[in-house]
Amino acid sequence: MFRVVAGKDLTREERKELVVLCNLAYEEEMEEIINQFEDPVHVLGEFQGKMVCHALWITRYLQPEGLPPLRSAYVEAVATHPDFQHRGFASAIMRKLVEEIQEFDIAGLSPFNVDYYACLGWELWRGAMFERTQAGVVASPADERVMIYRLPSTPALDLDSAISIEWREGEVW
Ligand SMILES: CC(C)(COP(=O)(O)OP(=O)(O)OC[C@H]1O[C@@H](n2cnc3c(N)ncnc32)[C@H](O)[C@@H]1OP(=O)(O)O)[C@@H](O)C(=O)NCCC(=O)NCCS
Repeated sequence: MFRVVAGKDLTREERKELVVLCNLAYEEEMEEIINQFEDPVHVLGEFQGKMVCHALWITRYLQPEGLPPLRSAYVEAVATHPDFQHRGFASAIMRKLVEEIQEFDIAGLSPFNVDYYACLGWELWRGAMFERTQAGVVASPADERVMIYRLPSTPALDLDSAISIEWREGEVW
């Protein structure tokens, strides 16, 4: 029911189907955003032969204060087709995704709803957030939030310390 597929290995049909699914779920055009992700790995949730749920991760580098940059599985584009929401598909796909990223140092995501991901074991970073740009480290806007998931090689963390991520075009977090 779940398939894990590197972006470069998606068929044209699968790519089209996941874009349609994300467009419907987010109620916006997601193709450009999805195309911007570098080397994504997609988790596709299928039910009765139809793609009903999606999530992807990319590799980024979260850096909590006092620690080296951590190789991070950064989760994006979590989406369930509107006709199939509230049946546990997204929760199941997030559990599957976590199984697949065990070799990373940590996982991160920008939550639409903190309680939703907290139920799945994700933790809200409480400290200040920063972006590493070419011109130096700058504070992120106050309304940004990031949640992390501890994996086997995650070092001891202080969730009240500062955290940074490399700057990127579009939504940085
Ligand atoms: C968020 C989303 C992926 C959840 O998918 P789902 O398959 O319905 O999720 P689940 O069935 O595992 O969990 C549903 C529960 O999530 C919570 N939930 C879902 N949407 C929520 C929202 N907008 N705000 C708060 N809680 C929400 C509710 O507790 C819900 O429980 P209920 O079914 O008893 O109402 C789906 O609503 C979606 O695609 N939304 C649009 C895109 C989006 O915001 N993605 C998340 C980006 S971080």
